[in-house]
Amino acid sequence: MKDTIIIEIDHEDLLMEELKKAAQILKEGGTVAFPTETVYGLGANALSEKAIKKIFQAKGRPSDNPLIVHIAKMEDIKPLVREIPLEAAAVMEAFWPGPLTVVLEKTGIIPEGITGGLSTVAIRMPAHPIAAKLIALAGVPVAAPSANISGRPSPTTGAHVVEDLKGKVDAIVIGGSCEVGVESTVLDMTGKTPMILRPGGVTREMLLKVLHSVEIDAALKGEDVVPKSPGMKYTHYAPKAQVYIVKGEEEKVPVKIRELVEQYRRQKKEVGIICFDETYNHYDQGMVKSMGSRTDFKSVAANLFKILREFDETKVEIILAEAVEEVELGQAIMNRLTKAAGYRIIHV
Ligand code: TXA
Ligand code: MG
Repeated sequence: MKDTIIIEIDHEDLLMEELKKAAQILKEGGTVAFPTETVYGLGANALSEKAIKKIFQAKGRPSDNPLIVHIAKMEDIKPLVREIPLEAAAVMEAFWPGPLTVVLEKTGIIPEGITGGLSTVAIRMPAHPIAAKLIALAGVPVAAPSANISGRPSPTTGAHVVEDLKGKVDAIVIGGSCEVGVESTVLDMTGKTPMILRPGGVTREMLLKVLHSVEIDAALKGEDVVPKSPGMKYTHYAPKAQVYIVKGEEEKVPVKIRELVEQYRRQKKEVGIICFDETYNHYDQGMVKSMGSRTDFKSVAANLFKILREFDETKVEIILAEAVEEVELGQAIMNRLTKAAGYRIIHV
């Protein structure tokens, strides 16, 4: 067990002395969890093989799942990648700092342990003021996966991080809830056409305002191919309960869910329902939680992981979740929900 230092920061009023302490830990090769605008990350010096090993240990993360390298300003990317194609420069200009990760060919200074043997590296410049300041103060690029135990829903509050990582990391910087609530979009810029490997905070529709074309990796469409992003092959976001997504016409979904609730209750199973504000009143049995309005993807994304974790605190064994439409941020939401459900989808 480590003696984890907990540092609480109000992000309206950055406490520089406190952040300097955390930055010093990163400089010395330690691990620090910190908030970003997407989810909390668990950081370590990206240029130190020894430091990044501690991330894999703390999370229980498979070592072939590569890490994203976080930078504080645009020019910090130069030593890390072999070249920056024009289209990559265009998306970085448009969406950095922000929830976009760009995959490019790496240089020799990136340790093997970051990329799990790949010739490429994933880079992101976060927008959250605490993340930006901490990385700048550390003076090194910071490798940071989501700050959860491998397989659990990503943390969107300081309390989630404390729950998973207290005693396993050197420090946790707590700074409120994450605004976006789902992880960054991972965009591979090493091929002919930019390819989304993981949908996230920057949507395909937003990318198409800057790029001529953007493809979506076949592995994301459920096609049976070898995933390009090693992270995609692992179980993710899995709550203790078994999750089923119910997808179909708006009026039919609540009817089907009520029918299933009845069925599970006859089997004496505790059931949870994840729905929207619009459908909340359709359910009078089971533990019902709304992710927000069906038309407000931002609120749905911001609430999803928190709700999955809340169910872990209950006796619920089966969760029935309403699907969202797979456009804009809805793509990232459905991607996470589908993984949480282990690809169990009931069509109505
Ligand atoms: O929003 C985020 O991206 C958060 C915050 C903390 O910045 N970080 C995050 O990291 O989600 P992680 O490790 O949970 O997810 C990284 C994803 C994985 O799916 C991994 O496989 C992929 O990025 N990835 C990393 N390097 C890659 C590479 N060189 N090529 C393809 N995929 C890569
Ligand atoms: Mg993760």
